[in-house]
Amino acid sequence: MIGTLLLAANFRAIGLTVAAVVMLAFLALFLRNVASAKAELGSEIELAANKKPYLTDEELEGPKLDKSLSFALVVLGICSLSLPIYWLAEPGRQEGAVAAYLLSFQSRGEDLYVEGAQCVNCHGAGGVGGGKDYVLQDADGQFVANAVWKAPALNDVMHRYSEEEVTFVLDYGRPDSPMAAWGTPGGGPLTTQQVQSVIEYLKTLQIPTLDPIEIAGAADSEAAEAAADQVADEIRAEVDRSLEADEFSSEGEAVFNLGLFSGFRNGSLACARCHTSGWSLGAGIVPDVLDEGVAGCGGGNPSGIGFNLCNGSTIERFSDDAWKQPDGSWYPLGGRSEMVDGVETKYLLSSDGDKVYLNDKGAPITDRTDDDDAPVPYLILENGDLADCEYVSQLWDPEKGDPYAFAAGEVVEFGLVDGVEKYIDPEEQTLRDLSDDALELSDGRLADQCTVVEMPERASQAHYDFIYAGSNAGAGYGNGGQGSGRMPGFGASLPPDLIQAVVDYERGL
Ligand code: HEC
Ligand code: HEC
Repeated sequence: MIGTLLLAANFRAIGLTVAAVVMLAFLALFLRNVASAKAELGSEIELAANKKPYLTDEELEGPKLDKSLSFALVVLGICSLSLPIYWLAEPGRQEGAVAAYLLSFQSRGEDLYVEGAQCVNCHGAGGVGGGKDYVLQDADGQFVANAVWKAPALNDVMHRYSEEEVTFVLDYGRPDSPMAAWGTPGGGPLTTQQVQSVIEYLKTLQIPTLDPIEIAGAADSEAAEAAADQVADEIRAEVDRSLEADEFSSEGEAVFNLGLFSGFRNGSLACARCHTSGWSLGAGIVPDVLDEGVAGCGGGNPSGIGFNLCNGSTIERFSDDAWKQPDGSWYPLGGRSEMVDGVETKYLLSSDGDKVYLNDKGAPITDRTDDDDAPVPYLILENGDLADCEYVSQLWDPEKGDPYAFAAGEVVEFGLVDGVEKYIDPEEQTLRDLSDDALELSDGRLADQCTVVEMPERASQAHYDFIYAGSNAGAGYGNGGQGSGRMPGFGASLPPDLIQAVVDYERGL
């Protein structure tokens, strides 16, 4: 019995059994058919057993045709609707597929971050920043000190760099720093796809942005704004704390060196890590990083990728091009304007509230006109104030250009007479002494009979914009600057007032 069951359980046996049953049934059907068949009645042509009259023409071309056509129409309708509907859903399917791929890249990126490449050892879990043990040596390779090289937080790195710029850092590393080249182009172990995956993972770590444009475009911009405020508050709290602790002597210096003592974000927002030699090793190891002549003077670490910002070089790069309002913000770009003699004229407000009108090149002009009825421009004094002077000397530095171009008044001969500065009064053709309020202009010329207009502090909108946006590879910036894409943009990570503070600090370096 069991043997039979086993036999039945055998697939071959089942197959054979089924085949036998089918054959038997077929045979039975055939026999029944033969038995029930009737004898042929006559000619098939006249009397075919299945021949019966078909529909009439009226019916064929009437309801029958209508039915067929309607059926065809319905089928056509179904085809033409279902295809587009299918296509309509295609983007959704595609998004789903992209999202699924993204998820898998992110998780591969996370694996690399944590295990494969162990970024986590230096940059911390979740990209909060960390450090790497480092032995400081002198030029002869002699031991100087054991230090920890700050590894910046990466949970804000996508705010500071474009994706290509991060790819560049990952591909080539930071030469002479613990940040090695990871990508194949720089001789590292990770493939282009792996580098991309790590970046996809980094994107998931990013803290809220402070960029007003990105906030405005966010799905829930109110929530984005609240989150941004919180991030900004944390940064301000750290700046305030460091100032109260006397770590720095100005807000700008505190931002420039954000995290030097406290390790805030391990220096990701500090300018000094790239612009001050040795900064990344910490104040305890390189004690003079805040000293004049060291701070901001280039070489962010022994690797030194940042530029020298000292000796007024930043002012040369970004010359004064804007006035600041009393609250530290800029005069609105394009300026205020009003109608003067039927012409829309821009103006600035001086510190004492006077309006100072600007010509179409943005140079301040006085109420006066010269002999040719051309408006007379102000002279700009060294401290940024303006002066409207009756008499200006011809002493000038040829390198600084044409003295007449800046003349606010009559250009006259000044000279020493018996050791006393005098000039020729053009109307009376007499020698006049310089009055007590005579001015020496920033280009070395002398001026007399001046009305001085106190102007708000001048600075550079272009400088601010550069810190806001960072540099781009191959793009110029400021006066003759050439971007490599390695200067990060801070517009999405630092509140505007702190960017302003750091601009002021740099212009004083
Ligand atoms: C051995 C320690 C170490 C490892 C491992 C490491 N890094 Fe770094 N990384 C650093 C240090 C230190 C810096 C800052 C270099 C400097 O001072 O210029 C840095 C800089 C960076 C920067 C530039 C950040 C900025 O704001 O300038 C990025 C991006 C970065 N690392 C990503 C990674 C990723 C991703 C990995 C893993 C694939 C990784 N790092 C592995 C130490 C490390
Ligand atoms: C990750 C390194 C890095 C950090 C951080 C950094 N910079 Fe830079 N910075 C550079 C590099 C590199 C350049 C040179 C331009 C280039 O290569 O694109 C530069 C150029 C500049 C310049 C122009 C200098 C010139 O004469 O051309 C200014 C100004 C400047 N940075 C200010 C800042 C300020 C302010 C901060 C902080 C808010 C800052 N940098 C943070 C790397 C850095």
